[in-house]
Amino acid sequence: MRKGLFITFEGLDGTGKTTQIMELEKKLQQLNLSYITTREPGGTPIAEKIREIILDPENTEMSSQTEALLYAASRAQHVSETISPALQNNQVVICDRYFDSTLAYQGYARELTLEALYQMNEFAMQGIKPDLTFLLDTDTQAASGRMHDKQMDRLDLEADFFKKRVRAGFLKIADFEKERIKVINAALSVEQIHEAVWDYTKEALQNKGLV
Ligand SMILES: Nc1ncnc2c1ncn2[C@@H]1O[C@H](COP(=O)(O)OP(=O)(O)O)[C@@H](O)[C@H]1O
Ligand SMILES: [Mg+2]
Repeated sequence: MRKGLFITFEGLDGTGKTTQIMELEKKLQQLNLSYITTREPGGTPIAEKIREIILDPENTEMSSQTEALLYAASRAQHVSETISPALQNNQVVICDRYFDSTLAYQGYARELTLEALYQMNEFAMQGIKPDLTFLLDTDTQAASGRMHDKQMDRLDLEADFFKKRVRAGFLKIADFEKERIKVINAALSVEQIHEAVWDYTKEALQNKGLV
């Protein structure tokens, strides 16, 4: 069994991933556990350059296939340079988004074939899969509301249709992998969510012999 503990956080923007990652970091610090926090796309200088290409608003001609390959390329570098060495080093790795986001956004929402996404990401991930994943789930309007704090206009509502597909995709993925993916109601308070996150994390740390 590979060493370290690989934890990912998934969910729409505004569901509280960053907030919960910070809460979890505090706990790991208190326990003096060695960990790193990282994010996708990005996490290394090369992967951050790829992130810039993906997110550049001028790249309007980018095809969905190109986008998926760039995410996979960024992930390959991130795994080789950051995630895999940290796990080998027996550290806890906390990552903000990973392959489940690709499946939900590029697969379920943009409708690229899941088969192709699995194949290119198997190659990119080199066997490195999360031990534990938290899916922060709430309805799309609540999540968006936390980001803007304003009434939704027409464009927000169009975007809301896309977000609903992403959310449904995430829930399907979680249904296939109940053991790894813990779905948490993101409408609960920061403390309540953290308690659930910590319960599962503690158990995983114990199973790995890290505490
Ligand atoms: N459980 C919660 N209840 C209410 N507000 C929250 C909760 N978790 C996070 N927030 C707030 O919602 C906003 C988005 O949270 P954030 O952690 O940045 O989400 P994400 O990283 O998933 O986009 C922030 O202003 C944050 O303070
Ligand atoms: Mg965030």
